[in-house]
Amino acid sequence: MSTESPAAPGPASPAKIRLRHLQLAKSQGQPFAMLTAYDQFAAQIFEAAGIEVLLIGDSVGSTVLGHSSTTATTHQDMLTFTGAVARSVHRPLVMADLAFGTYESGPTDALRHGVELIRAGAEVVKLEGGVEVTAQVRALVDAGIPVCGHLGFTPQSVNSLSGHRVQGRDEAGAEKLLSDALALEEAGASAIVLELVPAAVAARVTDAVSVPIIGIGAGPDCDGQVLVWQDMAGLSGFQGKFVKAFADLRGDLQQAAEQYRTEVRERSYPGAEHSFE
Ligand code: KIV
Repeated sequence: MSTESPAAPGPASPAKIRLRHLQLAKSQGQPFAMLTAYDQFAAQIFEAAGIEVLLIGDSVGSTVLGHSSTTATTHQDMLTFTGAVARSVHRPLVMADLAFGTYESGPTDALRHGVELIRAGAEVVKLEGGVEVTAQVRALVDAGIPVCGHLGFTPQSVNSLSGHRVQGRDEAGAEKLLSDALALEEAGASAIVLELVPAAVAARVTDAVSVPIIGIGAGPDCDGQVLVWQDMAGLSGFQGKFVKAFADLRGDLQQAAEQYRTEVRERSYPGAEHSFE
């Protein structure tokens, strides 16, 4: 294995994942894994597991803060959670979302908020949209801020997209995805998330652009995959078609809490071994 391989941590892999490692992974046909992370312990566990990219997604609004949509997530939320993750890990690439309302008006706004995310510890900023945000992508890239695009179902546009729906099902939609991806690449984006897109369309986009495509609900042929960690670990209970729960954290945590309550009520916890003389 090359010393540049982004595969699981160890003596033969880089101590720090950088964008060039994702690019290398694409060229080697070696998929990489990205997970959302919003706090210290989750971030450290995912780093120990070898996850290459941690995304402080604006999904923090709905997975942690109790909002029903990511549109409620603020820039201040993003700064707080980005800081928490960035301070907690060394190896993964740290990517953070530009919150809804922080970049749509133009490059100046995008740059100001992008700079603040970088100051908080992000190494890449992600924003949603295609050809309509290329001026923002250029401004960020020109300022030395790497950008990840986000196409397909774009959660910040949930209202105009009439809910969580698969995008690019017809030929016109697929062509639009393709031209948006090429426009983002041309503007300087270093990677693109592709969400809720038919697998065959995602494969076409992955083939057509030279930057890594990171899929979520976009089939197996993308260069990398991303999931919201609480879905991946079975904590949220969300069972969308594209989600696989690799654990039952919700069940395990409930069982632990029930056991704790039982032992408190029975006075079997705390025992002598948990008490001070
Ligand atoms: O905010 C988020 O978690 C995301 C992922 C769904 C890619 O953008």
